[in-house]
Amino acid sequence: MRPSRRLERIPPYAFAQLERKVADKREAGVDVISLGIGDPDRPTPALIVEAMQEAVSEPETHRYPSNRGRADFRAAVRDFYERRFDVTLDPDSEIIPAIGAKEAIFNMNLAFLDPEDYALAADPGYPVYTGGPWLAGAAPVLMALEPERGFVPDLERIDAEVRSKAKLMYLNYPNNPTGAIVPDGFFERVVEFARANDILVVHDNAYSEITFDGYRAPSFLETPGAKEVGIEVFSLSKGYNMTGWRCAVVVGNPEALEVYWRLKTNVDSGLFEAVQLAGIAALEPDTDVEVASMRELYRRRRDLVCDALREIGVRVRVPHATIYVWAPVPEGYESSEAYCEHVLEQAAVVLTPGAVYGPAGEGWFRISLTTPDDRLLEAVDRLGALAS
Ligand SMILES: Cc1ncc(COP(=O)(O)O)c(C=O)c1O
Repeated sequence: MRPSRRLERIPPYAFAQLERKVADKREAGVDVISLGIGDPDRPTPALIVEAMQEAVSEPETHRYPSNRGRADFRAAVRDFYERRFDVTLDPDSEIIPAIGAKEAIFNMNLAFLDPEDYALAADPGYPVYTGGPWLAGAAPVLMALEPERGFVPDLERIDAEVRSKAKLMYLNYPNNPTGAIVPDGFFERVVEFARANDILVVHDNAYSEITFDGYRAPSFLETPGAKEVGIEVFSLSKGYNMTGWRCAVVVGNPEALEVYWRLKTNVDSGLFEAVQLAGIAALEPDTDVEVASMRELYRRRRDLVCDALREIGVRVRVPHATIYVWAPVPEGYESSEAYCEHVLEQAAVVLTPGAVYGPAGEGWFRISLTTPDDRLLEAVDRLGALAS
């Protein structure tokens, strides 16, 4: 059976392949430690689970939800954005629930791109920034995130032809996979660039709640003028340990949201209302303590990993946010994939090769901090033994 040409154009989803490989090894009795996928190992906070349990027993939540979302969910998002980011949103026109950020990001491509259009995609970046445009029949244009610029793209280098054909720009800070935070002034330059070139900015805000060392991650919408040129996708997956729940929101430019809504009414039937009610519980101040304790957990793991990597001679930057450590591949390996393959075969530790996030990720590998401390320690010991 032949898949569509659009599907054939994109490589198989990297993590799906990796999952298969790890399953094979485990079946063969190998004790594999995965530092691959960024999926929080801690359970969803009890407050949220309890809200879901209550919600799911209410028959009113069992029916088709509206794609606009429940009024109380949108009000909770409005209150959260006001409290957390000092951003004012109109719940009727500037907030729409999404079935996870992945859905929203993918569907933006179907909503906005025609075959001749481009989407500017951070490289390295979350794979949907490139897979999405291809599957929509358009094309991504990569913007390299340069380490010496703090992992932001050089907007000046985007040429006139690309500027005129680009309709979307995907950005993400705090950043997966590099762990970078947005440098001062960058979002302001993005707003100017988007305005000058009539491009819709899609800021993927998946990690703003996981920050360390006193750093507070902003919303893109805090930037003056951002709402005129952009939207933000805020996911509850990582900050609230809710990856399986599929709960996110798209906020910002009302015209863009109207287009996204139009697309969604043709594609899906909205976010399960019980999940929206659980989302309300997540966004209330009562969960602040839980979120703070997750930050502390990841900070401890980050230090543990960075110290261990330094000891084996890896020159690692200590990230101030996210659940990832992004480190250069040690000398002597031909590619990030070759290094990660070697580590998997010799130490039974899964690392993610930087190249799966785009060509600018070559020469790097990613460690996810979503593994219990004892297993993480065991993994870094194995890496140490391999290096000595
Ligand atoms: C940058 C980024 N965006 C979006 C997502 C997906 O979020 P969700 O679970 O809300 O679909 C991820 C998950 O790893 C991510 O790293």
